[in-house]
Amino acid sequence: MEYINNNELLAAFNNQTDHSIAVYNPHDDSIVGYIPSLSIEDINHKIERSKVAQQEWQNTTASHRATILNKWFELVTEHSDELAQIMTLEQGKPLTEAKGEVVYGASFIKWFAEEAKRTYGDTIPAPAAGKRLMTTKQPIGVTASITPWNFPIAMITRKVAPALAAGCSCIVKPANQTPLSAYAIAELAYQAGLPKDLLFVINNHSSVLVGDLLCHHEDIKKLSFTGSTEVGRALLKQTADTIKRTSMELGGNAPFVVFDDADIPAAVQGAIASKFRNAGQTCVCANRFYVQDAIYDEFVDQFVSAVSQLNVGYGLEVDTHVGPLIDSKAKDSILALISTTLQQGAKLQYGGDKLSGNYLQPTVLTDVSSNMDIVQTEIFGPVAPVIRFEDESDLIKQCNDTIYGLASYFYTKDIQRAFRVADTLEFGMVGINEGIISTEVAPFGGIKQSGFGREGAKQGIEEYLNTKYICFGNL
Ligand code: SIN
Repeated sequence: MEYINNNELLAAFNNQTDHSIAVYNPHDDSIVGYIPSLSIEDINHKIERSKVAQQEWQNTTASHRATILNKWFELVTEHSDELAQIMTLEQGKPLTEAKGEVVYGASFIKWFAEEAKRTYGDTIPAPAAGKRLMTTKQPIGVTASITPWNFPIAMITRKVAPALAAGCSCIVKPANQTPLSAYAIAELAYQAGLPKDLLFVINNHSSVLVGDLLCHHEDIKKLSFTGSTEVGRALLKQTADTIKRTSMELGGNAPFVVFDDADIPAAVQGAIASKFRNAGQTCVCANRFYVQDAIYDEFVDQFVSAVSQLNVGYGLEVDTHVGPLIDSKAKDSILALISTTLQQGAKLQYGGDKLSGNYLQPTVLTDVSSNMDIVQTEIFGPVAPVIRFEDESDLIKQCNDTIYGLASYFYTKDIQRAFRVADTLEFGMVGINEGIISTEVAPFGGIKQSGFGREGAKQGIEEYLNTKYICFGNL
């Protein structure tokens, strides 16, 4: 903690009690702070209060809600350095990336403050004389969000800001690995004037227990989850009992394709950003690289040279590009995957070293073929398998041969190919000559087993609204 001075938000996490959950720094597994483990009774009580508060909140004007959200945005921006430090301490990502995430997270608050005022209904041409038909939009009610450790702030604001803007209340269950950012950002919402009962952050030693409670609770009308496909599937089954609205942002297996007419330096730059952001622990990370035969060697040379420039280290140190993995379990499973891929015939082109602690050197594997396990696995770490391809139509089949459908990327200068390939890739998001596609103004989400629902953009607030149809007769 020698790097941290005067972080008032962090100071709130010193209280250790019999029931607290310790939060660890992935850099050295030291304790960063503590949060309370709430009992089931406590959580039920908070849901009851949330329900009462929501009934009042839904009757406020959109401009009132926007004013509070805008104030929240200002406070998050003002405290961005403190928030970024907390994030790096509990999550491990380099401080510059953490700052980037705070800005990204804040952008959803501002965006949905604006969208609050645009939840329009329709008037519908009536099918008979003497009738008027219309629709209005109403908030769903009490919502629950279960959020992951890889983006401790942005995944919360991307759900909570549209929910609050729409007139809903929020129960947030952040990952037990990274809850401090969640509590800190909620504290800023209260300081912005948000009534406390509209936003509760809850944790328990057992995330499974909390998930179970939220999924089965009658008063929770919507569950939004970001995390693995496996957990999403289990949550969906549990929400079936109460027929809840759900949004699922699940796993990905993004192909990153470099065609032989691509701008290779631009593709290398995009590949580095897409693959090694957050040490590769991102659902939209490039997961498998397909490089066309004629430029394969040139791309690999330039890519490896760029990878060798990445500094691995503690996120609070300047010049760190790649931080630690979240924990030793994550590291062990990635090391096992590298070893399997090498046994299956791939070549270790760069990296693979077992650095100490939770650190892993950025790794490039070449001579990878589409039948290897790594091609069907969401790696969630700084490992880049590179596959050689010749033919475009066969390439598209390989790209689409996955249960996932979140992000995809390709590099080409051919405009016809750009449209043709974008149309045939079975993914919710496509980056063309671009490795970073996330922004609050565009709809983020997947198809196939990467889930459903869209976050951000004009679509994001719809996830928290019901459409009511009203028919006036006998006019
Ligand atoms: C994610 O990994 O789930 C989110 C990444 C992003 O928003 O860019």
